[in-house]
Amino acid sequence: MTASDPSVDRQKRAAAEAAIERVRDGQIIGLGTGSTVRFFLEGLAQRIKAGLRIQGVPTSKQTARLAHELGIPLLPDEAEWSLDVAVDGADLVDVHMNLIKGGGGALTREKIVAWAAKQYIVIVDEGKCADALGAPVPVPVEVLPFGWPATARHLQRFAPSLTLRQSGGRPFITDNGHYIVDLMIERVAHPLDLDGRLNRVPGVVETGLFVDCTTLLIVGTDRGVKFVHPLRGEVQPYGDTTG
Ligand code: 5RP
Repeated sequence: MTASDPSVDRQKRAAAEAAIERVRDGQIIGLGTGSTVRFFLEGLAQRIKAGLRIQGVPTSKQTARLAHELGIPLLPDEAEWSLDVAVDGADLVDVHMNLIKGGGGALTREKIVAWAAKQYIVIVDEGKCADALGAPVPVPVEVLPFGWPATARHLQRFAPSLTLRQSGGRPFITDNGHYIVDLMIERVAHPLDLDGRLNRVPGVVETGLFVDCTTLLIVGTDRGVKFVHPLRGEVQPYGDTTG
């Protein structure tokens, strides 16, 4: 495991804490996956110990395990949840608040939860923000192991450079029992269009392109926290945590 950068961790924690302030008693909350979400879960657990009543829906086995350890109550995966809000990290965010997600391999469950939630809060450090989606961050695509080379040949039309994600010298297996193909695309000019076209390839389960989902982006920076809303843009100065 590589050591994390303390300044980036401070930014992630600041974004997570600003998201925790938005959680209300009685809510059902989608719980994302990753190191930024870990800060959110830790803070949420403290508020639960202080009396907050919420229920969570985890987007990965990793998050479910952590939530259990921290004493965060969870709803069953197959329940009919009505999510007030989901909070998740991202690998890259563009100026329209579209995302690349799936660095941790949880993209399909993360997207189901994002679409199910009334509000979708994305928490990131400022290094995740870019003008456009694309290289050096690959677009992950979850695919069925059955016939994956055939699926990958079709995906090559969209990205000449692609790799089957590995873990410990074997294909990485998602929580859903699938593989991930990472597509290196120089610049994703039309994320919505690309998401639709990738999803039409037989064998594709889901893509890591999250388009038009984010209702609030919270960016942790060395100068404080920045809030960005889809229609209003950046609405609060750095350092203000009430955006
Ligand atoms: C997992 C994800 C994560 O949200 C994304 O990889 C960001 O992770 P981190 O907060 O560790 O940088 O999409 O599938």
